[in-house]
Parts: sequence; structure tokens; C-alpha cells
Amino acid sequence: MTDRVQIIKGFQDVVPPRSIKFARIEAAAREVFLTYGFSEVRLPVLEPTELFARGIGTGTDIVEKEMYTFADRKGRSLTLRPEGTAGAVRAYLSAGLGRGEPVKWFYSGPMFRYERPQKGRYRQFYQIGAEAIGYEGPGTDAEIITMLDRFFKKLGVQGVKLELNSLGCKNCRPAYREALVKFLGSKKDALCEDCRRRLETNPLRVLDCKVEGCKAAVADAPAMLEFLDEECKAHFAGVKKDLEIVGVAYSVNPRIVRGLDYYTRTVFEYLAIDGLGAQNAVAAGGRYDGLVQEFGGPPTPAIGFALGVDRAALLAGGEESRPSALSIVVMGDAAREEGVRLLAALRDQGVVAEMLTDGVGRSMKSQMKAADKAGVKQVIIIGDEELKKGQYTIKDLKSGEQSTMKKGDFLKSL
Ligand code: HAM
Repeated sequence: MTDRVQIIKGFQDVVPPRSIKFARIEAAAREVFLTYGFSEVRLPVLEPTELFARGIGTGTDIVEKEMYTFADRKGRSLTLRPEGTAGAVRAYLSAGLGRGEPVKWFYSGPMFRYERPQKGRYRQFYQIGAEAIGYEGPGTDAEIITMLDRFFKKLGVQGVKLELNSLGCKNCRPAYREALVKFLGSKKDALCEDCRRRLETNPLRVLDCKVEGCKAAVADAPAMLEFLDEECKAHFAGVKKDLEIVGVAYSVNPRIVRGLDYYTRTVFEYLAIDGLGAQNAVAAGGRYDGLVQEFGGPPTPAIGFALGVDRAALLAGGEESRPSALSIVVMGDAAREEGVRLLAALRDQGVVAEMLTDGVGRSMKSQMKAADKAGVKQVIIIGDEELKKGQYTIKDLKSGEQSTMKKGDFLKSL
């Protein structure tokens, strides 16, 4: 026997029933997002490395240590997308929309991050993301959060909570950053090695470090909310007000800073209350009012989020049972031909049907057993007797009841 080729660590095959759950999650998202005016876009999984370095930020964990980056045959540095926002903004500009036109887009597909695999964390994972580009008012922030809330409701996921924060803007953040660096400087000895480095490169990230010593050290750190300028304050108040109007519950968490540099003003996370362990963020997002400009476009406000499909699948209940309703059981070659014809006709009518003998003779008993095992409700039996009389025998596997019906009548009866 030859050795099998193994899957790459942290990558995953999504096979039934999990793949069926993924499809259900994507269908629910599509349905809800379309009602909010979002249209689907399909974007490349490979982009120039520079896109992510510029967009997400060189001092972030994603860019520093989590990207799948390699040179193609011409020596260009390419990266498998670790997230969708940078690519969506690039596509917005590539499509010639960069004159401030508003668009509402959503996408779904695989993302790639070289993180340590664990429950709910993979190196290839799936996101459904939404981006509203060209929208400035707090109403849009509240709208897309409401859209997520309704999506979770549609999916029947209850165990999630929403946390909000504001990270201010380029006018008010520098003063906060300065105050934070000063505060953290006085706690330097208590910080982990990564955070001591972050102090120089990305001090806000120290606030959401998971190391216990760092958590204790930042307990009394100043919060961005105390530094918001009047416009950012009014924006944040506007978001909260609209969420209250539509009854979306939230709590303000001044520790949410997000791991990507492009965020401004509103940031938010949907967290699993339990069931996901350490990887409890199911969806997350925020405003990125400076990113279009960062990529060479005019000043264009924007906001979006991405939902982790793998994590949503861990939270979404419901069994993904195989929906086969009918099974055809045949005895003999002539009956098999009739079975093939009937099977195609049933499927043409949209009935989920199977015939358990694909040309290889199997006893009636073994076909019945297989139908039972597959959870089929009814079997249609075709043998010599049925062929002669131009009818089918229909057996209900639950009640055991059996009846016959004329061939022509049967298809009409469904
Ligand atoms: P993010 O917080 O990096 O944001 O990822 C969003 C969601 O993707 C997370 O909340 C989580 O559910 C899921 N996720 C992230 N990494 C993994 C992983 N390794 N395995 C499984 N699931 C994972 C973004 O990606 C931003 N682009 C969101 C955004 C859109 N902001 C504005 N627009």
C-alpha cells in the first residue's frame, strides 16, 4: 500500500453533516443581508502582500506572524487573504467606484491565518463578511449590527452577546495614545515580552493581551471613550440610540481594540457566552474611515464586519439530517429499467429520491434494509407483478402499511 497524502495542519475538510450546516448558515446570511440592501461580491483569495501590510498594519499579529506569504513564479510576493476587508476596498477602487459612491457588499469564503490550531481556530477558516463603503452616519453602524442580530435570530443562535466600543478618529486618538503609552510605561516591568514590543509598535493592542500579568497591569488604564472628541462622541451616541430603537441589546466594553490597524470610531464583537472556549468571538467588525484613502482613494467612510462560519456552526443547533424522502426498490432487470425512469421523473419533480441498486443486483431484503438505515420514509417497490399490472407498491417504513397505485397516478399524487 502506498502512503496517503495528509492534509496540511490546521486545514480542514468540511464534509457532511458539517458542510450542510455551513450551507444553512450561508443561506441565512444571504437572505438577511439581501433585505438590508447588500449584494454579493466574489473576490480573489490571493492578493499582493503589500495590500495587507498597508491595510491591516505592519505592527499587527496578522501581518507580523500569521500570513501565508510566498513568491509566485515571477518572484512577486503574494499572500493568501487573512481577511476580506482590505481586498474589498481594493476591489471598490479597482471597479472605479472611488468617487465616494456608496456600496453595500457581502462576501463569503475561506481566509487563511497561520495561527495555532485549536477548537474554533483553524488555519483555513470561513468568513461571511459585509462592508458598507461610502456611509458615514451612525445609522449605518447600527443597521449592520442589527443585520447581524437578525441573522443570529434567523439561525436560532441565542448564546451570543454584543460588545461595543469607540476607538475615536485621527484627531482624538493621538492624545489617547500618548496617555496610554505614558500609563503603560509605568507598568512596563509587569508586561509580557510581546506587550513591551507593542508599547512601541501598537500600544492599543496591550489592552486586549490575554496574558494574566498584562490584564492586571492594564486594569486601570485610561479608556479611549474618555478622550473622544465631540464628533466621535456624538457618533457613538447615535449608534447606541438606534440600537435601542430596534431593541438590540449591547454592553460597552472599553477594552475592545481589535487586532487590525484600520479601525476608527465604532468597533464591536459578538461573543459566544459559552460553548466556544477561548475562541469566543463569533463575529467582529467596525468602522474604517481611513482605509479607502490609505489605498489611494478619496476620503471615504466605511464600516463592516466578518462572521466566523466555523464558530457559528459550533453554536448553531439543529441536526443536518439527509432529506431523502423516497427510495425505489427493484427486483430484476426490467424492474430496474422502470426504476431508473421513475427515479429521474421524481427528481425532475423536485422529490429527493434514491434507488439503492445502481445496476448491481441486490436482494430485496438488502435494499429494504439500506432504505431503513438511510432514514427513508417510503419505499416504492417494483417487481414482476407491478410491471405486469402497470402499478407500484408503496410501503411506509414507519407504519409498515402497504398500498398499490397506478403508475400514472403516483407521480400526480406527489
Ligand atoms: P477578525 O476579528 O479578524 O475581523 O475576524 C472576524 C471573525 O472571523 C472572528 O470573530 C472569528 O469568528 C473568525 N476568525 C478569525 N480567525 C479565525 C480562525 N483562525 N479560525 C476560525 N475563525 C476565525 C476581520 O477579519 C475583519 N476583516 C472584520 C471586518 C470587516 N471589519 C470591518 N469589516
